[in-house]
Amino acid sequence: MTTGPLILGIETSCDETGVAVVRGGEILASVLSSQLDEHARFGGVVPEVAARAHIEAIRPMVHAALRQAGVHSDQLDAVAATQGPGLVGALMVGYSFGKAMAWSLGAPFVGVDHMEGHLFAPRLEHTDFDPPAIVLLASGGHSQIVHVKNWGEYEVFGTTIDDAAGEAFDKIARFMGLGYPGGPAIDRVSEGGDPSVVKFPRALRDRPYHFSFSGLKTSVITYLEKAKVAGSVPPLADVAAAVQEAIVDVLVNKTFNAVEATGVDRVAGGGGVLANRRLRQRLAEEADRRGVALHLPSPALCTDNGAMIAAAGEFRLERGDVTPWGADVSSSLRLGS
Ligand code: KG4
Ligand code: ZN
Repeated sequence: MTTGPLILGIETSCDETGVAVVRGGEILASVLSSQLDEHARFGGVVPEVAARAHIEAIRPMVHAALRQAGVHSDQLDAVAATQGPGLVGALMVGYSFGKAMAWSLGAPFVGVDHMEGHLFAPRLEHTDFDPPAIVLLASGGHSQIVHVKNWGEYEVFGTTIDDAAGEAFDKIARFMGLGYPGGPAIDRVSEGGDPSVVKFPRALRDRPYHFSFSGLKTSVITYLEKAKVAGSVPPLADVAAAVQEAIVDVLVNKTFNAVEATGVDRVAGGGGVLANRRLRQRLAEEADRRGVALHLPSPALCTDNGAMIAAAGEFRLERGDVTPWGADVSSSLRLGS
């Protein structure tokens, strides 16, 4: 049995109400209420719909997590909740619920940076994962290559100058009529597809760490429109595989550019896009080839969840970074700033 503070972690930054109970890095319970069905018919996340769905789900999810962990709320040492970045209305639900809960329990409240949560996810399953490391964070709203010099000490090497990687998957899938969310759809549809039918451009070749994905979307649209006119649209699986290959290629190459530049011997990843099978395979091949360790969370811990918020919350609590009662959510909280 692990020791350490008993933390409740709450995640409501986007379209998943995630709640977990974690002690000493061990997940005692982790539950999720997904709003995918509610947003799918709009082809993307509708902020007000998200906030209202969190309001409905938050109490039952907290209850379920505590019950699954076999603990009572008054045993909690702290409550952690995502403070930002994310959709403000959605963030406010989990943040205010967590704060009120901590206040009523007389326990500390810790507001967590969502991206620091993703950064801590690999540690939940790989206890040997420690800095220094290069971590690729790729989600629906962010794409970053982070040099984790120490826990809490981050240097952002590269970021996207336009769309995030997940956003590119989502927008392109939407155009291809594959539905929402696009990442898992392209992952699925591309299975068995031949990515060599078309080579989409890899942008920003002259910048080693930064990403740009909006041009890819335009290329895919132009390519498909021309192919339609010419009456020669290749199978969807091939186009999806080519799109996936273009995104994965850039993410992998730039991550390993940072590994080379820093000389670190471990790589990790976090964020929904890291659930992508081709990306995981390519990262594993490249890490193997270079003899560096790779720590990827299992897919369920790559996408948004409460456990990663509890894990980052535990780290912040141990550092004494307790959040003042008057602190607010922030849509633009940034790692390392
Ligand atoms: O981290 P996350 O769950 O939420 C945010 O913080 O945004 O990431 C969601 C993003 C979405 O854009 C989704 O399409 C993408 O992650 N995603 C994937 C896969 N699973 C989720 N992208 C590619 N392949 C996947 N298997
Ligand atoms: Zn996320």
